[in-house]
Amino acid sequence: METNKKRILSGIQPTGTFTLGNYVGAVRNWGRLQDEYECVYMVANMHAITVKQEPAKLRAQTREAAALLLACGIDPEKSILFVQSHVPAHAELSWVLGCSTPFGELTRMHQFKEKSAKHPEDINSGLFTYPVLMAADILIYNADLVPVGIDQKQHLELARNIAIRFNGNYSETFVVPDGYIPTTGAKIMSLQEPDKKMSKSDKNANSFVLMLDDKDTIIRKFKRAVTDSDGCVRACAEKAGVTNLMSIYSVFTGKTYAEIEAEFAGRGYGDLKLAVGETVADAFEPIQSEYKRILADKNYLDGVLKDGAERAARIANRTVNKVYKKVGFLQLDK
Ligand code: TRP
Repeated sequence: METNKKRILSGIQPTGTFTLGNYVGAVRNWGRLQDEYECVYMVANMHAITVKQEPAKLRAQTREAAALLLACGIDPEKSILFVQSHVPAHAELSWVLGCSTPFGELTRMHQFKEKSAKHPEDINSGLFTYPVLMAADILIYNADLVPVGIDQKQHLELARNIAIRFNGNYSETFVVPDGYIPTTGAKIMSLQEPDKKMSKSDKNANSFVLMLDDKDTIIRKFKRAVTDSDGCVRACAEKAGVTNLMSIYSVFTGKTYAEIEAEFAGRGYGDLKLAVGETVADAFEPIQSEYKRILADKNYLDGVLKDGAERAARIANRTVNKVYKKVGFLQLDK
């Protein structure tokens, strides 16, 4: 996979099925980048254990996440798809990078503050050093671009600082990665509290749509979506709920807000909700059947992941070797 194409790396945690928000904000775009870039996509299972996970569930969800990525169009002929723990070099690089990351810098990470406030009973040091592992994920492939949502921007900034510092201390080693903000794909908000991002960890299951929800469930969740009392289908800041529905509809139909306003002129929110629900359910239906097919074909799926891990490890091991030499780890003759 040695080409002149720029390299992209991204990761997603295997903690439950992806939401509509994950799909629109991340996974849908991953598929589209595969021709223009050399893409490396990772199921970040090592990141997942920074909060308590049930082992059997994590194991199953890791395979499910990989199957869903494939169903969403990640093509193992074009891209590298692998599971993070299958490439031990990530953990190796993470240790070295951690030793040059100031404690103070990590204490400023918003996500650490939020997650430790949310799980006060389990503030483990992995949760604290997680951004260093994420930096290793990125730098180990010399990724040029990293598609991330706004919640990961600070971590990407840290990865850039880590790369710059290491290059300065030991000579040019890492590519300093840039964020990749896709030109399409809105941020999808909660259906119940439309000023909050849609999140699968929300206690109210009506606030998010999962990619594996069946058609009735999807439509029901949209029917219950919070709107306002104005009754007019129009996108604006004061109408966050309706705007969110319109934005979802726009993503899946390609229609502009003006076209959607015209389509629903003189009609109520009920019509809009039903249209959005049906559109989303129809878009997910073929992905869901592809997902089921892939998940049932264990040999194929595990073969893809094995091949992905080997290809990823070839790149990652080269980087770790270089780094080990630079920091002065003794090398023995082979
Ligand atoms: N931390 C990311 C998240 O929680 C997932 C992730 C892990 C990631 N490693 C990465 C994303 C490297 C981009 C690049 O969403």
